[in-house]
Amino acid sequence: MADAPVDSITSIPVAVVGAGPAGLMLAHLLGRAGVETIAVDTRTRQEIEVTQRAGILEADAARDLIETGVSDRILRDGYEHEGVELRSAGRPYRIDFKELVGASVWLYPQTDVFIDLADARERDGGTVHFGVRDTEVLDVTTTAPRVRYTAPDGSRHEIRARYVVGADGSRSMCRDLMPEDRRVRYGNEYPFAWFGILAEAPMSAPELVYARSEHGFALISQRTETVQRMYFQCSPDESVDAWSDDRIWETLQARVSGEDGFRLKEGPITEKTVLRFRSFVQEPMRWGSLALAGDAAHTVPPTGARGLNLALHDVKVLADVLLRALGSAGEAALDEYQPRALQRIWRAQNFSYWMTQLLHSVPGASAFDLRRQLGELDNVVGTRAGRAYLAEQYTGWPARGHAR
Ligand code: PHB
Repeated sequence: MADAPVDSITSIPVAVVGAGPAGLMLAHLLGRAGVETIAVDTRTRQEIEVTQRAGILEADAARDLIETGVSDRILRDGYEHEGVELRSAGRPYRIDFKELVGASVWLYPQTDVFIDLADARERDGGTVHFGVRDTEVLDVTTTAPRVRYTAPDGSRHEIRARYVVGADGSRSMCRDLMPEDRRVRYGNEYPFAWFGILAEAPMSAPELVYARSEHGFALISQRTETVQRMYFQCSPDESVDAWSDDRIWETLQARVSGEDGFRLKEGPITEKTVLRFRSFVQEPMRWGSLALAGDAAHTVPPTGARGLNLALHDVKVLADVLLRALGSAGEAALDEYQPRALQRIWRAQNFSYWMTQLLHSVPGASAFDLRRQLGELDNVVGTRAGRAYLAEQYTGWPARGHAR
């Protein structure tokens, strides 16, 4: 296959495998600096648009999308949140981001970030091929890597690049190109998953509610005034078919109910999915002419809403080093990528893991485990340092030189 004839050969500085938010934001940032890219994705644009993902953007990430000219739709369609509610045993505790660390986050779904980026690529004349198949990434240990793919019409194409970026998500094939004896994979599996729903109902709360209860965890999030997103902890092998709307509402209500009389506003459920739940990092993030970004290099459990934010941080650093590598600095500039990206990645790994274990019920936990968990939660909600710790991590760490 590697040398079979193709219908077209295109030479370009950077080829991007994967056209989700990470791949498209990288292409956008490079495009702004005058560096052309071609991005390919096996999914169609329509498939990506309807895949539900998390919904929280750090203020810095939101600002980057606006200030680099992707779109300012977030200001019209997004919701700025200055805190979250933690609930335990039916009691509400507000974590006030603004007051604690002077920061906020934006409720703006990843699918909208994707739509904005895909529209911006089209507007700016960037090349993105959705719905391709049989993608091959070749010669990454040389200075002339290639990407080959079959277009939806069956024609076969080759992209010749100086660098290839693997932004191909949590089931990345690019990360397998790093030789087995040179790569390390770190991971953690959890004995539970999330059951996610979309419901046609009014908002139940003005901010997100992360609820810990004796029945397990639940998260109440939002999309619009009329569409809501909610999750509850379930077993990893849960089948969506076993869950009627009534059973789902009963489960969610039981996990949030409490002495303040809080009740969810119910409505028809339009989507049900069981979400995979794991922590994962692969190092190195760069091998020869190939760099990994976003979920291809690392995944976090959704509890801390870090995934999209981390991916956007990766590509910001990567765009910076790639521009220098393509200029006079040469390939050595790429050496900076991993150390600069990895610090935030491991902080986020820790935060996502920490927030997960703080709020979920672990099957088989002992009475000691349970009381210890309540003690930890009390330390978080009951002390200013605890609340500030959560607030600082959740809103994203201040960028260098931006002390709060
Ligand atoms: C979401 O709105 O889908 C969402 C928000 C916060 C999370 C996870 C998911 O931690």
